[in-house]
Amino acid sequence: MFQTIEWTDEGVVMLDQRRLPEQETYLTLTSADGVAAAIRDMVIRGAPAIGVAAAMGIAVAFQRYEDVPVAERPARFDRDASLLAATRPTAVNLFWAIDRMRRCFQSHRLDPFPGLAAALKQEALAIHEEDIDANRAMGAHGSALLPQSCRVLTHCNAGALATAGYGTALGVVRAAVEAGKKVAVYAGETRPFLQGARLTAWELHKDGIPVTVLTDGMAGHLFQKKEIDLCLVGADRIARNGDTANKIGTYQVAVLARAHEVPFYVAAPTSTIDLQTATGGDIPIEERGPAEVAHIGGRRVVPEGVRVIHPAFDVTPNRLIAAIITERGVARPPFEVSLPGLCGQAAGTTGRVARPA
Ligand code: MRU
Repeated sequence: MFQTIEWTDEGVVMLDQRRLPEQETYLTLTSADGVAAAIRDMVIRGAPAIGVAAAMGIAVAFQRYEDVPVAERPARFDRDASLLAATRPTAVNLFWAIDRMRRCFQSHRLDPFPGLAAALKQEALAIHEEDIDANRAMGAHGSALLPQSCRVLTHCNAGALATAGYGTALGVVRAAVEAGKKVAVYAGETRPFLQGARLTAWELHKDGIPVTVLTDGMAGHLFQKKEIDLCLVGADRIARNGDTANKIGTYQVAVLARAHEVPFYVAAPTSTIDLQTATGGDIPIEERGPAEVAHIGGRRVVPEGVRVIHPAFDVTPNRLIAAIITERGVARPPFEVSLPGLCGQAAGTTGRVARPA
């Protein structure tokens, strides 16, 4: 089994997802700048995984600050935290994880250096561990929603590659398969970065779970032919009312699901729920460079001079979502009521996030 991200004595080791499926290569990073570049350049991606990466980036950089005068440590911490917070704007897990690291720093800032550095490392490792535990719990809750035999359409990659391990939407699939259910996955290719074709197909195929790749435009045809029993996707940020930002193209899958009376489920940890954001309209949507859209496999496919757009996420309105599967249970509409109810058990941590300046 591969490791998406791991803490080692040499530094933070990440599977380079840009190279999959052709090459399984790992990068070792020892600075906040290096980890920030890796998040921005999509070496590591997926909402929970970039949260873990940011936490480890802060911690790994701090291990090397022993010679920094005590009075300068807070400024050094802030610089690294701000750098990591500025990498990608949509997935709230990034800010949630940085906020946890900030609170850890505050609690231990007066400790001698070894204690402070160890506390930051421990907090980053806890975020990593807790994410895997959350995915397992989400799998247990979510697999109960899947029929004994079913065909599931997913979009993007919400698997082990997008998390510390096991996955959110794909964790639910894995749990259902482990429970003896017969699950076949349809993976939308997810233009332009091809998370579905390259990553979801790679990890499910490795696990021996049947997976079929379609181009994004083929989904309607599959629904019409009654080949989809349910949809299961991850999330980058869920607003207080249940509106859900996920990879661009998710909204059209949800519209098709509603038109064909197929349930559309979101699986995400409570760290993805942002109670401070009232509706989907308030979620910042990342705009990436046009080159990722204008080129396929390094070759330009759009005529020079033609305008290209690249919103990296879209928002699925709450009315199209049948349920949101979390590690604490399954939230049903009205989400304005069920989501704060679930997060209320979080000892007041969920929803308090450090925003980029
Ligand atoms: O741009 P990406 O690859 O980071 O986008 C990832 C997604 O949209 C995932 O579906 C989402 O983060 C859920 S991951 C468990």
